[in-house]
Amino acid sequence: MEKHIEDYNYEPFADTEEYRKVNGDITRSWIQIMVERGVESLDRFLDIATGAGTMAQLFFEMLPANLRESAVFCLDQSAGALKLAKRRLEKEVDKLTLINSSIQELDLPPKSLDVAIWGNGIHYLNEEEQLKSLNAIKKALKPGGWFFFNTSFYEGARPEDTIPFYRTQVRNAVQFLRKQGVKRVKVEGKAEAAKFHPRSYYEELVGKVGLDLVDAQEFAADLTKEAWEHISSFQQYAAGALHGYPDEVASDAMKNAVEPAILLHGEVNENGNHFVTRKWLSISARRA
Ligand SMILES: C[S@@+](CC[C@H](N)C(=O)[O-])C[C@H]1O[C@@H](n2cnc3c(N)ncnc32)[C@H](O)[C@@H]1O
Repeated sequence: MEKHIEDYNYEPFADTEEYRKVNGDITRSWIQIMVERGVESLDRFLDIATGAGTMAQLFFEMLPANLRESAVFCLDQSAGALKLAKRRLEKEVDKLTLINSSIQELDLPPKSLDVAIWGNGIHYLNEEEQLKSLNAIKKALKPGGWFFFNTSFYEGARPEDTIPFYRTQVRNAVQFLRKQGVKRVKVEGKAEAAKFHPRSYYEELVGKVGLDLVDAQEFAADLTKEAWEHISSFQQYAAGALHGYPDEVASDAMKNAVEPAILLHGEVNENGNHFVTRKWLSISARRA
């Protein structure tokens, strides 16, 4: 199993009200889909790219009592993330197993899982890695087992009228870095998360490994300044948006560039706070 010890800074974004609301709506829809199709028991559950365990926590909070899971596996390539997930979930989950591995190397017994979820992480992988991962997930699912994922990195994630916000933020961040004398270092290929595949790409992906597509839905979240500052500080996000700059300085520059961009291009909510809407795509699939 791979070990990555690193600073992990996704949790502040995952703890914002807006993030928990949109991801809570999505996990609720996953449970509803299973209940509507007559699922009566849920024994073994896997949370892929668990991060701070947010998706698993939201999922369990909404699970009807008769569907309580008995064993939970949380997988992440970051050891720092798994520590946070353990802290968040150990009180609520009786049997918790942490797996420090990349999803491509998933190694669970065949036909052993009832549900696998993959929140906010599939877009970091290229298509070959995604297919390898989905094949491993399918193998680990019991017949009739469920696979759910979501992403806010796809073609429809940034509504047309929000594009000026992103352009201004990146332009401000680059200017800030130039003033500091920071130069672009890596210029080869785009980061995977900077490639926004169409919705149909993700709908078809599950079919490519022989899973049945059950549902695809989009959700919207109105993200305020603090949420944008948190996500812009997340190194994988900043690296995608400011490709080619050293990670730490890219995070800082992207964070500092939020305020002027959102004041210029954001809408204003009933509390007088500026926001920019982001969309999430949610996919539900099942092993025959
Ligand atoms: C944006 S966070 C999402 C965390 C959580 N699932 C959520 O939705 O709040 C993405 C997570 O994916 C993990 N990750 C990225 N690539 C991975 C891979 N190939 N295998 C396993 N974990 C990965 C990162 O370490 C990070 O914890």
